[in-house]
Amino acid sequence: MNKTLIKGKIHYVGVNDRNKHLFENMLPLPYGVSYNSYLIDDEQITLIDTVEASFFEVFLQKIHRLIGDKPIKYLVINHMEPDHSGSIRLIKQEYPDITIVGNAKTFGMIEGYYGVQGNQLVVKEGDTLDLGYHKLTFYMAPMVHWPEVMVSYDSTEQVLFSADAFGCFGTLDGGFLDTRINLDKYWYEMVRYYSNIVGKYGAPVQRALAKLGTLPIQTICSTHGPVWTEYIPKVVSIYDRLSRYDADEGVVIAYGTMYGHNEQMAEEIASELSARGVKNVVLHNVSKSDPSDIIADIFRYKGLIIGSPTYNANLYPGIEALLSKILLREVKGRFFGYFGSFTWAGMAVKKMAEFVEKSKFDLVSEPVEFKQAMKGDDFVKAAALAEAMAKALGH
Ligand code: FEO
Repeated sequence: MNKTLIKGKIHYVGVNDRNKHLFENMLPLPYGVSYNSYLIDDEQITLIDTVEASFFEVFLQKIHRLIGDKPIKYLVINHMEPDHSGSIRLIKQEYPDITIVGNAKTFGMIEGYYGVQGNQLVVKEGDTLDLGYHKLTFYMAPMVHWPEVMVSYDSTEQVLFSADAFGCFGTLDGGFLDTRINLDKYWYEMVRYYSNIVGKYGAPVQRALAKLGTLPIQTICSTHGPVWTEYIPKVVSIYDRLSRYDADEGVVIAYGTMYGHNEQMAEEIASELSARGVKNVVLHNVSKSDPSDIIADIFRYKGLIIGSPTYNANLYPGIEALLSKILLREVKGRFFGYFGSFTWAGMAVKKMAEFVEKSKFDLVSEPVEFKQAMKGDDFVKAAALAEAMAKALGH
């Protein structure tokens, strides 16, 4: 049985990283991550993207097991981020006559990162490359999520090599085809991957989806996660909704707390939301939850409530960092509410008013501010904030 074949003459030669704790030194990898590369064993043998450099020996062995000592004619670089481009210099050493295929923006990065020169084929939108049986056409996808990103489309077997698009965290344990593996872990890891890494670039993703929507696509070979066949409609729908900042009904309550008072306010709001029929209520203590999970949930749900103690006449540091992450990703179209506490001088609520202005979120009610511990009227105000949020969500 040929365990690497995808279809036609296209093989999977990617690797799994179960060693790295933090992707980009920031994002936890509870299920690891795969760096996918594809080898087309055609008349013109072609490699699509590479893998992170520390996996080069494993990668090279996979290539040799398929093609032996035959030379590789082309190396197509769809994306230059080092988790995929990391082995370019080593591939060039192994195959000195290889021709690297990229667009005008690709080669400056290859030179800058790896000092690699030599045979180049510069392609632009709509250019084609005949490999024998397979025929690649190149489409530019700038800012999904780097400027040089392009995708390669094989018209023979209708396979899209999509760079990071449609990718997700999670290693490929055993098989790589969506029809041969349990997909449970990938769906949330796709939301966490998209929202944290690509999240800022919703408009370019929408432009790319519109362009690729005109192509008949039977298989998507992304650079991370499963090779998609049967589940393409679901995967495209997830990327489409996330890039439109479209979200499910539900409320994320993210709070900072030192002595439990803001947590008490968060719980009070949450129980009122639940009583009013909002089923998806997610509470995040910003000092405990990983920021990547909070961001993923903010992309998933339509309502957002933030709570912060006053700290050094400012926001609680974890909240300050979260608000910055939200603004950086230019999240749009959320119903928003906020609350804050203080001991002798209230500043958290004032600071969050600045965030409301910048985010352009739809404020559902006035903020709730309380001094020291929660007391009688504070519970009434918490319920009113929850009621306003529930109403905004249609309850
Ligand atoms: Fe997986 Fe943008 O690199």
